[in-house]
Amino acid sequence: MKRLGCVIILVHFVLEFECVSNNICPTYDDYYTVKDNPNCWYDFTADSNATEIVIKHGYPLEIHRVVTPDGYILTVFRIPNYNSPNAALRKTPVFLQHGLASTSANFLGKGKDSLAFILADAGYDVWLGNFRGTEYSEGHVNLTVADKRYWDHSMDEIGLLDIPMQLELVAEKTGQRGNIIYIGHSLGTTVGLIYGSWYPHQAKETVKLFILLAPAAYLSNMLSPARFMAPFADQLYRMMDSNDMIRIGSQAEPLRNMIQPFCLESPVLMRRCLDMLNMLYGPKTQMGPDMIPIYFKQLPAGTSLKVTRHAGDMVLNNFRKYDHGINNMKVYGTYLPPIYDVSKIEVPVFIMYAVNDWTCTKRDSLVLYRKLPKKAKVYGIHEITEPNFNHIDFLFGKNVKSLVYDNILALIEKLNQN
Ligand SMILES: *[C@@H]1O[C@H](CO)[C@@H](O)[C@H](O)[C@H]1NC(C)=O
Ligand SMILES: *[C@@H]1O[C@H](CO)[C@@H](O)[C@H](O)[C@H]1NC(C)=O
Repeated sequence: MKRLGCVIILVHFVLEFECVSNNICPTYDDYYTVKDNPNCWYDFTADSNATEIVIKHGYPLEIHRVVTPDGYILTVFRIPNYNSPNAALRKTPVFLQHGLASTSANFLGKGKDSLAFILADAGYDVWLGNFRGTEYSEGHVNLTVADKRYWDHSMDEIGLLDIPMQLELVAEKTGQRGNIIYIGHSLGTTVGLIYGSWYPHQAKETVKLFILLAPAAYLSNMLSPARFMAPFADQLYRMMDSNDMIRIGSQAEPLRNMIQPFCLESPVLMRRCLDMLNMLYGPKTQMGPDMIPIYFKQLPAGTSLKVTRHAGDMVLNNFRKYDHGINNMKVYGTYLPPIYDVSKIEVPVFIMYAVNDWTCTKRDSLVLYRKLPKKAKVYGIHEITEPNFNHIDFLFGKNVKSLVYDNILALIEKLNQN
C-alpha cells in the first residue's frame, strides 16, 4: 500500500495533480500514525463532495436544477448511461433519495460498491435527489440559509413539493414517466410514502416501484434513545427559535464543522463517536474504521429543525401532516393534522429492514407493511438478520452489497423482464 498517493483527475479536460497523504486506515490504532503508516492509504472519497466523487471515479455527471413552487432551488445529480449496451436498462431511471440530515453522497461513499455506482455499472440511468435544506440544495429564489424563513418547512413540503418536482424532472428528461424506480433510505422513504399516499394517482403514473430501505412512517417501536427526545421535540424547537440558532442547528456546514474535527481528532474519539452512533442506530455496525473519515465527511448534513420535530411526531406513532397545535384549525380546518393514509398507495412497495436497526425497527416495518393495500404488496418485504447490521449499514456496511444491493438489482432486473 502506498504512503503517498498522487491522483490524476480529469476535470473538464484540465489535468490536475494533487499530491495527498493517507487519510484512511484499517484499524483504529493505525490512525495514530496515519500520515506515514504503510497500512494506511488515501481515499479521495473522504475529501470529496458528491460531484467530485462521481467525476473522480470516471463516471459522467449531469447537474440539474429544479425550482419548487415555493421557491426552493433543488439540485438533482444524474449519472447517465447513454452508452449502456442494454437499451431496456439504459431507459430505466432509478431515483435515489437520501434521509434525514444526510446527502446524496451517502449513495456514493463506498467506492465501486456504492449503490449509485452498482446501478450505473449494471446499466441503469441513476438520479440522485437532494431535498431542500441539505448541502446541495440550499438555494432559494428570494431567501438564503441565513433567513429563518428558509428553514420554515417540514416533511410536508419535502414530500409534497420536492419529491414530485424532482420526479417530474426525471420523467421529463428521460421520457420514462411511470417507469421510475424510487429507492429511499430512512427519511427518504418517509417523503416517498407522503407523496405516494397524498397523490396516489400521480405517483402511480410516475413511479413504477418504491424500494424502501429502513422505512420510517410509524416509529413508535423505535429502540434508539432518540425516542426519549420525541415528547420534547416541541419545547426544543421553541427554544431554538432565533435566526442564528435555527441556522446553526439546521445547516450542514456549521454542524459538520463542529462534529467532524472532534470525531476525527484521535482514534479514541473516533471510537467514542462510533459508540454514540451505534447507540442511535443499532447496537453494532459493520462500518469499519476505514469508513469513519468518509462518514464524518458526509454526515451530519443539513436539515430544518422543523423536519426533525415532524419526525418526532412519527415516534409518537403519528404519520400525518405537521402538527401546528392550536393553529391546526387555522391551517387545516381540523383540530388534528390530516393523516397520511398509506392504504391509499397505488405504487408497489418493496421493503427492506434490518432486525438490528434501532431507529427503523422490524416491528415498525411490519406495522407499515400491514397497513399497505394488497396491490402495493406484490413484491413483499425482506429481512436482514445479520447481527451487526444497523441503520447506517444500508449505506456504509461492509457487506451491504451482498445483503441489500444485490437483492435490489435482482428485483429491478426481474421487473424489466416483465
Ligand atoms: C464540490 O466541490 C467542488 C470543489 O470545491 C466545487 O467546485 C463544486 O461546486 C462542489 N459541488 C457541489 C455540488 O457543491
Ligand atoms: C419572491 O419575491 C417576490 C418579490 O417580493 C415575490 O413576488 C415572489 O412571490 C417571491 N417568490 C417566492 C417563491 O417566495
